Amino acid sequence: MKLLEVKDLVKHYGKVKAVDGISFSVQEGSCFGLLGPNGAGKTTTIEIMESIQEPDSGVVYYKGEKITHSFKEKIGIQFQNTSLQEFLSVRETLELFSRLYPKHKPLEEIVRICSLDDIINRDNRKLSGGQRQRMLLGIALINDPDLLFLDEPTTGLDPQARRNFWNLIENIKKENKTILLTTHYMDEAEYLCDDVVIMDHGKIIENGSPKDLLKKHFGEAVVKIPAEAVPEGLNFSCPSEIKDGFTEIQCQNLDQTIQELIHNRIPLNGLMIERKNLDSLFLKLTGMSLE
Ligand SMILES: Nc1ncnc2c1ncn2[C@@H]1O[C@H](COP(=O)(O)OP(=O)(O)OP(=O)(O)O)[C@@H](O)[C@H]1O
Ligand SMILES: [Mg+2]
Repeated sequence: MKLLEVKDLVKHYGKVKAVDGISFSVQEGSCFGLLGPNGAGKTTTIEIMESIQEPDSGVVYYKGEKITHSFKEKIGIQFQNTSLQEFLSVRETLELFSRLYPKHKPLEEIVRICSLDDIINRDNRKLSGGQRQRMLLGIALINDPDLLFLDEPTTGLDPQARRNFWNLIENIKKENKTILLTTHYMDEAEYLCDDVVIMDHGKIIENGSPKDLLKKHFGEAVVKIPAEAVPEGLNFSCPSEIKDGFTEIQCQNLDQTIQELIHNRIPLNGLMIERKNLDSLFLKLTGMSLE
């Protein structure tokens, strides 16, 4: 079921068109990724969806109804930048936030889901980047929302801390919550997201599940053979091009492509098989790499 639907959103800041007419929908229980480079319009979009910002035009629907300002009480938000009260421990910070809601998840539950045990008594200013993100995730979960917004939750974390954070997100997914996250880490989106929207300059340039998008743009795999091994003028049944000294075949069926190579007596010694990722897709769509 469609939990959220965004229709024709537009938002300007003065002359800057931050969001330029975008539409998409988010399925209940899914993890949805908004991807794009700095300034693409991700934060603006997510803040409009959280009812924190007003769009110039366009509508956001939650379960088929237009969202209102009270919507933000029902959801959990992890902001890209958050200032926290000073001189408080992690426990005190969580307690402070839980007082803001009439109903909240028991603290022990939050500690368990977000693995906060080891830092619960630490001053919230003395946390590492990864620990801070864990605490912020805990804050976002305090009102036990069905829908969670995470704006670049892993930016700046080292690879291990990012992995740990992914595990937390997976735990939360198991609780059947719907997650909307922004990221410019393509491997993160591929690992966590059921569906993604790729944004650039306020517009959507692609939309779909990572698997479908990769299949659509790159086929099943790319087979690379040293270009000199391929007789000139030979055509394959799948699209091919010569790049950096290799003939690259975008195959839909690996088995068939290999058969074709053998049939044409092309030596397989230098053959390489490449599975493309979302970063390669971003590069293909925009001409630049995100990472
Ligand atoms: N409050 C604001 N006032 C003026 N311009 C803004 C404001 N917020 C964002 N912008 C501009 O709107 C565009 C989109 O910004 P936004 O923060 O939505 O991008 P983003 O995709 O979240 O980027 P990042 O990955 O850096 O967080 C940018 O050009 C930005 O400079
Ligand atoms: Mg942002």
